[in-house]
Order: sequence, then structure tokens, then C-alpha cells
Amino acid sequence: MSATTPLTPGIQRDPARQVWVLVMAHAAYALGATPEGLVLHLHWGARLGALADLSDPALGRDHSSMDTALHLAREEYPVYGGLRYGEFALKATFADGTRDLDLRYDKDEIGEEDGLPTLTLHLHDAVYPLRVSLIYRVDVAHDIIVRSVRIENQGNVAIHIERIFSAVWHLSRSYMAPTLTTLAGRWGAETQIQRQPVVAGITVLEGRRGLTGQTANPWFALDSAATQDAGAVYFGALAWSGNWTLRVATDSTSATVVAGGVHDVDFALPLAPGAAWQAPEFVAGYTEDGFNGARRRLHRFIRAHVLPAPQRATPRPVLYNSWEATWFFVEEAGQLALAERAAALGAELFVVDDGWFAGRNHDRAGLGDWTPDPVKFPHGLQPLIDRVQALGMDFGLWVEPEMVNPASNLYRAHPDWVYHFPTRPRSESRHQLVLNLARDDVRAHVLAVLDGLLTTYPIRFLKWDMNRPISEPGWPDEPDQARAIWVRHVAGVYAIMDALRLRHPDLSIEACASGGGRADLGILRHADQIWTSDNTHPEARLRIQEGFALALPARVMVAWVTDTPMDRGRNEIPLAFRFHVAMLGTLGIGGNLLAWDAAELAEAARWVALYKAIRPLVQDGDQAWLTPLGNANIVAVQYLAPTGVAGVIFGFRRADLFGDSSPPVRLRDLEPAATYRLSIPDEEPCVRTGAALMAQGITLPLPAGSYASCVVRFAREAASSG
Ligand code: GLA
Repeated sequence: MSATTPLTPGIQRDPARQVWVLVMAHAAYALGATPEGLVLHLHWGARLGALADLSDPALGRDHSSMDTALHLAREEYPVYGGLRYGEFALKATFADGTRDLDLRYDKDEIGEEDGLPTLTLHLHDAVYPLRVSLIYRVDVAHDIIVRSVRIENQGNVAIHIERIFSAVWHLSRSYMAPTLTTLAGRWGAETQIQRQPVVAGITVLEGRRGLTGQTANPWFALDSAATQDAGAVYFGALAWSGNWTLRVATDSTSATVVAGGVHDVDFALPLAPGAAWQAPEFVAGYTEDGFNGARRRLHRFIRAHVLPAPQRATPRPVLYNSWEATWFFVEEAGQLALAERAAALGAELFVVDDGWFAGRNHDRAGLGDWTPDPVKFPHGLQPLIDRVQALGMDFGLWVEPEMVNPASNLYRAHPDWVYHFPTRPRSESRHQLVLNLARDDVRAHVLAVLDGLLTTYPIRFLKWDMNRPISEPGWPDEPDQARAIWVRHVAGVYAIMDALRLRHPDLSIEACASGGGRADLGILRHADQIWTSDNTHPEARLRIQEGFALALPARVMVAWVTDTPMDRGRNEIPLAFRFHVAMLGTLGIGGNLLAWDAAELAEAARWVALYKAIRPLVQDGDQAWLTPLGNANIVAVQYLAPTGVAGVIFGFRRADLFGDSSPPVRLRDLEPAATYRLSIPDEEPCVRTGAALMAQGITLPLPAGSYASCVVRFAREAASSG
């Protein structure tokens, strides 16, 4: 290709100048290697015309003795070494005590991985036998780049890695004062949207509990006056379910960088001679279509390239979960009665939550001993499963495999299997301790127990929970590996999930950690859906789900209709509103159906039937929020089939304080010239052009009062022939 040939989608390069361009449908990302072998960032933003548009990769000049050329260089993967003082991605100590890296570009490799064009740049330390490979996978259609890094010790003594981030992303220099959007929270209040200006300095987002966590989610967006539908947005998500950090910083030129990966707090990775290690993926994209544009791209990427196959191609079932109905008082007759009612409503999956296993009458005992409680289930789980299946539902079970209660047979037999320091107390939280899944024997045991359960019983679904953080992260038998537990534990979880899926291909997994503590793209390579929050109050859920939906698609967002919101004993919010909020994701029911009257059951059955009818749109359509970002009083969410032939809009009015009429909401992404038939509840069907629906919008049929909601369906009419 000549330097002036128009760039076509895929990975383009100019070997003579050592530049590469990742050309996507609407975006481009460019990098290059200087004659000295430094890999520099050249561009991330709108598409470029030709390779000639790129300046030669070159080290600039010192600005001052404090701001040296090397420090100012926009390196793709800056290391800790030399005169560099900005964000860095890699820090290592060599056997001779040298704590300084000097990476030089070696060669490139262009290929394909997992169906995506892949560029790998191999770098090598100038003196030591450390190879570092920067990996870029490109989802051309969705303007997304998946970065990772692989390190390899090619020598014969160990190298100690003290930080290894997945990527450093440089925003365009023209993008000077962006707003940072993050998802913050805590237990019962996950993924709350938070916006703040980026000023000089560093904003640190992190999870340090050994899991993704609820305090922050490893997702970010940076925009400059973008709206839901217009304006440039950089967005990204780290695919990792353990300790993580994202550092949003300004460099010495005031440009914004985002560095992130596995957290380096208490972390060290001894890289043995010949060993290699690959960092988690960091996914990011650029769009000029606002937050809905970012959301659409990320959701599509996750559905197509992250979620486990073949489950990602099948609808997520409507589930019933017994937790809020029976708490720990699970027993055969009660579950059978709930199953009858759940099936009558149209549930497709019946999940028995916590409380089913031996000794589990409260949260103080039982974790670790995964056999059915002989008092609650005198004949094991089979009679219940038989009935659930006869009712046409699949059967699912709650487990918390990484945990053990001291009051359990497992702990009595293997007290050394938990993280601990011999001289320190073992801090309990929820009366439980964390199994050391970095250990091969513990991993093998957990896999064998779960595999045994899935082999004994036709269990099609596991809700995999994790209800406490890691503390006292010691591994007395392996002091050398003790600081690597932060990555080995997560790798253990992933490996067990993968082994179970391989042996039981029909299995689906829901990731949970005291609600939404494990909501990330890493777990979604191994799990099919996520429990969004223990808070099932519909008003709280709308907030939580709005944030969640910025990062993750509806099919993974599990939402139940329940009886008991956090602020009252009995739910007075209309059943319709409760259902509509839950229908924004994968619908579940978690109320005590034995207490629902005939009218409630009949209404619930109608909503379940409607959900099933629109499920392909919700679970696999493009989601667009039609109302402004951040807890608007009136909320409208549109789901449009990827083919554009049909869609559905959910409308909500949270509070009706002033008796105002609903403003019209404008639909998105329709074909202006096509006509659409609208099905508005209690109104005659009407037909409008796409142009009118996008310009004038529709008035949502929201009943008077607070907690009003509606569902409006629409379908494109076939083009008339004449
Ligand atoms: C966690 C989960 C809940 C439930 C309980 C059971 O809190 O988030 O949904 O499964 O554990 O103990």
C-alpha cells in the first residue's frame, strides 16, 4: 500500500516508517516505533484518510531538565525506567537488583485471534532477557480495540514483576478538558453514575477486595459535552474480576491518559525462567455518537465476542429465585409450592438460593459442605428437580465455592486451605473465610465437588456467589507466591468455571458477589449473566440499572420483581412498575408467590408473556436511553432489533409531584422514510414515519401518579411496492 492509498478497515502498516493504523468502521488508532525502538502513540479518534496523514514517530525535545523528551513522549506502554515520571504500565526487578526497564521495539506480527484482526508488537529489554508483547485486537465493526500484554522471561533466573497494567490509553491532545463518567457505589447501591471534570492530577478508581467490588466498576467514559446521542466519547472497560485499578491522569502536556490493569497494591509476580504471563484484556473504543453510541458498541462487542458460546446465542430464561421468599428456610415442600406458582407464571428456570445444603440454617455454618441438607431434603434434591422439570422448568442452584465457614467439615479437615498469616487472627466476615484458590489442591477440590453436584443432579444453572473480601492474604507454604494470590485466585475461579462448562456444556452461570460485586467483562467470558444488586427496590434499581447499562448489555443484567423494597415491609409500588423495571434486563421473579393473590398472579403472568414476546429485542437489541443521563424523573429506554424491524420503549415516571403531562420522547436510529406501526396500550394502533418519530417523538402513555410506567411496541411496515 502506498502512503496515500485510502485506508481500508483492518490493520494497516507502513514497514518503512514503522507505523501501524488500526482502521475501524468510524474510528482509527495509530502507533509507531521510533528509530531508537520506542513505541509511540500517534492517533486515536476519527478515521484518517491515508498512512501519509501520520507524522513520523519520533522522540521530541526536552522541554526542560525536569520535563525531558522521554517523559513527554506519548508511549504506548510506558515502563518504570529512565527519565519517565508519568503513568507507567510495567515495573520489574531483575535478579541483580536493577529496578529499571528499557524496552525496545523488535518486530511486529499481524494475524487473527478469536475472529478479530490482531497486531502484536514484540519488544525486548535492551539488556535483560525479558520479552514484552503488546497485543491489539480490533473489532472493526464496533470501533473497539482490545489491548493486552504478554511478558516472557527468556532467561534463566526469575524476574520479579511489581506492576503489570494491561494498557495505557492516550486521548487525543485536542480533547483537553473532558468530563469523566464512572460507576460508583457500595453494597445495595451499585453502579451509580458519577461525573467529574478531569483536572491536573490523577483520579484513581480501584477495587482492592480481591474481587471487582461495588465501590467502583472497572469502566470509564470521557467526553467533552457529549449527550446521549451526539458528541465524542472515549470509553473502556477492564476485563478482570480481581484487584484492579484505573488511573485517569493528565500528562505534562495536559492531555488525558487512562492507565489500568491488575492493581499493584500488595502484588508481585515472580516470573520463573521460561515462564510467560498475559495480563487481562482492556477494552476501549471511540465514538462520536454520544453515550448511546458508546453503549451500543460495547454491548454489541460483549454479546458477540465476550459471552460464552453457545449460550450467548440463546435467550436468557425467565427465572424464579427463592431467596427473598424463603431466605434460609429452604425445604422441599416449600420450594415445591413456589415452583408450582413460578411455572404457572411462565418462569423457565427455578433457582434454589442459599440454605439448601447441610447445616445451612443461618449464615454461620455450612459453606464448604456442598451436600443437600438431610433434614430439609430427606431424599436429596432429586424429587424437587423432577417436579421442577415436570413443570417445564430448568433447575438451578446457589453456591459460594470460594468460601468456607469455620463451622463446616471442610474447614475442620483443612484449616490451612484458607488465606491466612500464622500469627494473625483470621478475620471473618459474614462468619466466613476465603479458600486459597491459588493452591492447586484447593482448586481441584472445589472443581471436584461442583462437578459431582452437576453430575449427580441435572442442574443447568449455578448462581456463583462471593460474599466477602479477601483479608490476611497469606500463603505460608509458598512465601514466594504469596503476593501473586491476587491474580492466581481469579485465574482459579475462571478455570473452575471453564472446566465445569466443558464437562457440562448446557450449564449457565450467574456471577454474583453480595449483589453486583462481580460485574465486569472478565467474568463474562465465563459466566452468562450477573446479579445486578441485592437492592430490588424498583426506584433504586432504575438508578443502579442506568449505570449498569452504560457498561453491560441487558441480557447479562438480572433483575427480579420482589415484594420487599429496602424502605418498607410490603411493596406498594404498582406491580406493573416493578415488572417494567425488571423487564429492562433478564427478567426474574423473587417475590413470595404464595402470598400473591389471584389478581397479582394473573397480572404477573401477562407481564411474563409480554416479556417473552419482546425478549429478543431486550436481550439482543440495541439499547438507547431517550432521556438525559443521570436519574431523570421521566425515563424512556428504547430497544431496537439490530435489523431495525421492531422495537420497544419502556417509559417510567418516578414522581408525579406537579401533575405535569408527559413530554414527548424522540425515538432513535429509525429509518426516516420507513413507516412504523405503534402499539400504545389502550390506544388504537397508529402509523408514523421514522422521520416523525425521531423529530416529534411520542407522548408516553404514563398513567397519572408516581411510579407510572408503560411499554410501547413498534414495528416497521414492509415497504409498499407501488
Ligand atoms: C448474596 C446474594 C443474594 C443471596 C445471598 C444468599 O447476598 O447477593 O442474592 O444469594 O447472598 O446468602
